[in-house]
Amino acid sequence: MKRPLAMIVGTGHAVPKKILTNSDIAAMGIETTDEWIVERTGIRQRYVAGEGESLTSLSAEAARAAMKVAGVTAPELDIIVLGTASPDRLLPSTAVEVQAAIGATRAAAFDISAACSGWVYGMQIAEGLMALGGAETVLVLGAETLTRITNWKDRNTCVLFGDGAGATVVKRSTKGRGILSAYTRSDGTLADLLHRPAGGALRPVTPEVLADGSNCIAMAGREVFKNAVRSMADACDRALDGAKLAASDIDLLIPHQANIRIIEATAKHAGMPMEKVYVNVDRYGNTSAASIPIALDEALRAGRIKEGMTVMFVAFGAGFTWGSLVVRF
Ligand code: ACO
Repeated sequence: MKRPLAMIVGTGHAVPKKILTNSDIAAMGIETTDEWIVERTGIRQRYVAGEGESLTSLSAEAARAAMKVAGVTAPELDIIVLGTASPDRLLPSTAVEVQAAIGATRAAAFDISAACSGWVYGMQIAEGLMALGGAETVLVLGAETLTRITNWKDRNTCVLFGDGAGATVVKRSTKGRGILSAYTRSDGTLADLLHRPAGGALRPVTPEVLADGSNCIAMAGREVFKNAVRSMADACDRALDGAKLAASDIDLLIPHQANIRIIEATAKHAGMPMEKVYVNVDRYGNTSAASIPIALDEALRAGRIKEGMTVMFVAFGAGFTWGSLVVRF
């Protein structure tokens, strides 16, 4: 495959109306403080989906915004790929619900399960389908309503996550713009460090499961932290090698927004000064698959990315999964 083949032509994002601050969480009776959360994670607030809001509605809103920028109508979409760990229903995919909501009558739509790496995986699937000749216009979504699968009695996890959706329209490359390199990996031997123990077909929801919260996210925080730093550092190296570029050639690094300390460690390893790193974890918390496309949309709208600039994306999440992209805009 000759790169660049696929380029980003439009982005959009959507978040729920309700903001939950760290102090709001403490006021809910969780034994935590704003100081602890800010110091350990960098998170100050997150958005929480409420009545009438769903993964489908947030994704559709983000998709419409991205299509507007791209100058693309819904019937022009060939593929909709949605990365998520919190689908509205387990069957069918949320992608088909988004398809119906936006009227993408010609598209093939499906979800992918790669947790926080969902958008990076989705972008590579989009590029691959375009390389095969089966698609010209692809909508890649990363979207989550993680607060609905969060154990609100577990202070180790409930302070971390937020809801939102990010959308990207991908078309065939012109003028040397688009994906210059891509890398994905996973390690399923570490699956139990970050997972939902029950709620799937193997251990369905029962009154006991609901009572002990094992249908919600469970995490070994320190192990996740160490693996995230190691794997995101590796992914940055691979993406730069693949693009035959040095860190000094990268105008902006957009890492998965999990924790400011993970972001700083990744940037340090990659040799990127923090002025060239996009950070919004303070306002959104960890929105998993949505975090990178939300950050990308913000960065573009704020003028932090201009035509000709080179951006590196790096993600890590449950699985574990990780991956990276270098993209010329
Ligand atoms: N408020 C107050 N105290 C808390 C809280 C809280 N919300 N959560 C944990 N603590 C306590 C612990 O109980 C522990 O107390 P103890 O020493 O009496 O046992 C103490 O704080 C230290 O806990 P650690 O887990 O060692 O704290 P650490 O510095 O590792 O920070 C954190 C925890 C923030 C979860 C960190 O490990 C982390 O960010 N890990 C990565 C997790 C992550 O980002 N997961 C998201 C999915 S994967 C991804 O997106 C990359």
